[in-house]
Amino acid sequence: MAIISTAGLARSFSTKRGTVDAVRGIDLTVRAGEILGLLGPNGAGKTTTLRMLTTLLAPTGGAATVAGFDLVREPARVRRRIGYVAQAGGVDPQLSVREELITQARLYRLTKAEAALRAEELAHDLDLSDLLDRACVTLSGGQRRRLDIAMGLTHHPEVLFLDEPTTGLDPGSRAGLWDLVRRVRDEHGTTVVLTTHYLDEADELSDRLVVVDRGVVAAEGTPAALKSEYGGSPGASLQDTFLAITGRAPAPDDAIPVAV
Ligand SMILES: Nc1ncnc2c1ncn2[C@@H]1O[C@H](COP(=O)(O)OP(=O)(O)OP(=O)(O)O)[C@@H](O)[C@H]1O
Ligand SMILES: [Mg+2]
Repeated sequence: MAIISTAGLARSFSTKRGTVDAVRGIDLTVRAGEILGLLGPNGAGKTTTLRMLTTLLAPTGGAATVAGFDLVREPARVRRRIGYVAQAGGVDPQLSVREELITQARLYRLTKAEAALRAEELAHDLDLSDLLDRACVTLSGGQRRRLDIAMGLTHHPEVLFLDEPTTGLDPGSRAGLWDLVRRVRDEHGTTVVLTTHYLDEADELSDRLVVVDRGVVAAEGTPAALKSEYGGSPGASLQDTFLAITGRAPAPDDAIPVAV
């Protein structure tokens, strides 16, 4: 069953210097319970796509359903069923970790007692229990990232969108996050859509990859299928495969024009 389905999803921005076509038409189908890795060079349109799918940004073209509801006509219904961890985290530095988690749970209408319990559960799952009474402002980058992710999971979303969740995490925390993503999917059937620039992570974690380039889907398939098709063999590196798809490989005889 498709839990996300988009057709020609597009977003342009008007700027003083003209129109930026950030996303030019994305066709995407994501199955329930799938872990989908969204790859693409800087500026490809990944964050813009996630911001549309999470109802934070209105599309300027195309259509999409998320968790069974129309993105544009039923945004509130979509919002209740999804969690979103933005590329730049959004915690309030004045609050303690516990207060931040409880506030988030209260936003989702949990009672005070339920919210306090959920804060403890999430802290346990994301290895934040020892930090519950610390002010958010004192957290390290990786600890903050774990808090962002805990907040995205507060209401047991059907679909979890993670924009570069492991940027800035140490190798141990990164491995811990991979385990967590798998556990959330395996135990709750949660669908996960994540972006990353770490190709080892994409390879390890994703059931399927979608490579976005210049605002459109340039390639999609399982990591093995993409490697065979674009990298030359199932044993090719995802790095070479990615470079073959996006054409960003160094090519002395075929210089790529620099975008201005
Ligand atoms: N509010 C905006 N106004 C104008 N242009 C924008 C706006 N938001 C995004 N863009 C442009 O849209 C394009 C896609 O940006 P987006 O953030 O979606 O890329 P991305 O794939 O997430 O990149 P990265 O890997 O660097 O995070 C970029 O050229 C960006 O400059
Ligand atoms: Mg981005």
